Amino acid sequence: MKSSIVGHRGAILHSLGDPDIVGIEQSYQYLADGLLVVRDGLIEQLGDATELLQQYPQLQVIAHPNKLITPGFIDTHIHYPQTAVVASYGEQLLDWLENYTFPAEAAFNDPEHCSKTADFFIEELLRNGTTTALVFGTVHKESVSAFFDTADKVGLRMIAGKVMMDRNAPSNLTDTAQSSYDDSKELIERYHQKNRLSYAVTPRFAPTSSERQLALAGKLLQEYPDLYLHTHLSENKKEIEWVAQLFPERSDYLDVYDHYNLVTDKSVFAHSIHLCDRECERLAQANAAVAFCPTSNTFLGSGLFDLNKMAQKKVQVALGTDIGGGTSFSMLQTMQEAYKVCQLKNAQISPFKAFYLATLAGAQALKLEDKIGTLLPGTEADFVVLDLAATPLISLRMENVKNIEEQLFVLMILGDDRAIDSTYSFGQCVYNKNHQQ
Ligand code: GUN
Ligand code: FE
Repeated sequence: MKSSIVGHRGAILHSLGDPDIVGIEQSYQYLADGLLVVRDGLIEQLGDATELLQQYPQLQVIAHPNKLITPGFIDTHIHYPQTAVVASYGEQLLDWLENYTFPAEAAFNDPEHCSKTADFFIEELLRNGTTTALVFGTVHKESVSAFFDTADKVGLRMIAGKVMMDRNAPSNLTDTAQSSYDDSKELIERYHQKNRLSYAVTPRFAPTSSERQLALAGKLLQEYPDLYLHTHLSENKKEIEWVAQLFPERSDYLDVYDHYNLVTDKSVFAHSIHLCDRECERLAQANAAVAFCPTSNTFLGSGLFDLNKMAQKKVQVALGTDIGGGTSFSMLQTMQEAYKVCQLKNAQISPFKAFYLATLAGAQALKLEDKIGTLLPGTEADFVVLDLAATPLISLRMENVKNIEEQLFVLMILGDDRAIDSTYSFGQCVYNKNHQQ
């Protein structure tokens, strides 16, 4: 096949490390007039445009004036079947699940509903500049095959799994320990590491799985060493009490998962708000990650995530939207809410830290930093073009920013889907706001 090569010219920013570890100056690379050279879906070179163009005299170049090119956003916790329950009023976690979420998830026994929702959901991700996500399906295996089929058609790097849930849920939404194992296995065989897809073993949370189901989840992880484990942890105080009642022999919530060998370096635990010191230390030791989901945590009144404590305990943290407990698909809005949550905890997230959390930290949490999360040569060309004049207010505010740091802060506070000019996956434009039907 003929090789294809194209350059993208504009302001370019990407993270190189956690600013709280490597220092702000070492944590990013910014090119005011940069060139990203993309060949066959991979980044071949990144550098100053004038210099690099000398190496590529014949290069076809797409110019992006008054824009900022960054890596695609990485959402490390989201439920695609909850797309239509976003903004459901008035409840905290356990009632919200019962009154809104479970009824919505029951509709996914219909493959057509699965496909329609998967199409909408993926378009919404791309409209928000999210190129990779770690995604919950429902208990129905068809929900996951529909999601993977749609993602694969677009060529996206996505991770998903079927919910395992065999107790404490409506009977039309429960599987059995054995059927959850069999169905997960079938999906793994069919989709795991097919093109850019990966599978995550997905017990919903400890209260909705029997001990046997958790044990079989652990067995899957042992049978396929590259699988992810994706679940919820320590989100809501009532949930935590319930877990303590259901598993009295375990020392804390994380210990329930640990007992069944579910705490690995490819485990992602959503929320993790109310952890004790031991749980943080164990997460760090296992090199597992937590997904900080600020819009969900404020919306469901779950609590304020303690980013400082996580840093002190060296726990790997990334960002998630947690749609539909969360209120926005936009990782820019999620960065804003993370900033506000940290303000309430007397901590400040710098714009570079927020940007790191939404990109490279997500890749690190998913152990994919050699493939996505930066714009380093050799990685996959998943990137977004942010519009620095997306709204009249953003334009006005951008007139008096002094540097890239301030520019980034304006984008994360005032920006949302309107700030996404276009989204590229594996070098292909998969969304452009000016070319919508
Ligand atoms: N805990 C168990 N299930 C869920 C869910 O669907 N959303 C959230 N936010 N927390 C959960
Ligand atoms: Fe969730």
